[in-house]
Amino acid sequence: KKTTLIAPSLLASNFLELGKEVDMLNNSEADWLHLDVMDGRFVPNISFGLPVISHIKKAARKICDVHLMIEEPEKYAEDFKKAGADILTVHYEACTHLHRNIQQIKNLGMQAGVALNPHTPVQLLENVIKDLDLVLIMSVNPGFGGQHFIDQSLTKIKQLRALIEAHQAHALIEVDGGITTENAAEIIAAGADVLVAGSSVFNAPDPAAAIKALKFA
Ligand code: DX5
Ligand code: ZN
Repeated sequence: KKTTLIAPSLLASNFLELGKEVDMLNNSEADWLHLDVMDGRFVPNISFGLPVISHIKKAARKICDVHLMIEEPEKYAEDFKKAGADILTVHYEACTHLHRNIQQIKNLGMQAGVALNPHTPVQLLENVIKDLDLVLIMSVNPGFGGQHFIDQSLTKIKQLRALIEAHQAHALIEVDGGITTENAAEIIAAGADVLVAGSSVFNAPDPAAAIKALKFA
């Protein structure tokens, strides 16, 4: 069995010590750095954006996985490429011309992901699944860290796994929100390839140990 990838979300990190937090992740078993961008429009919260990501990129020795929770993401795709995004994920619910937006991300030389809110069925991706490098299943309503995992997400992960297999697609399944060492094993068993974790990593007494525990859950 292939090992699960872990993508700690810096949203829960100590922003005053961002350099140290990135160093900790560089020296941990984290695979990706998950960077949550919120615009106060698509989601009812504002996080951080391009200048912060370009500084993180300078220090990071791991893949930068950027999760855009913003309206009109196509206006900023090129800027996020320049800031250092390796993977750029846009929300299904924010894209009227999703197919075009996916091609734009790939043409800019990034891996393309699409995120689904908890109410959005995975079947809506059937016409683009073969184009995607990643599908992000939101297991909380986006906007805030520290929320409780929505159990229906497990069904969606299984449905997405079936959709990917039916189309012989290569997209990774990433799951984001409310993931802890307690529920990681069942999320992996449902079919997740990548686990995002914010509060359960950064609020742990030993974040690097928490990352390891998630990876081998
Ligand atoms: C929520 C973000 C998540 C969040 C996860 O809108 O997309 O990445 O930081 O935080 P936890 O792991 O605390 O639920
Ligand atoms: Zn996220």
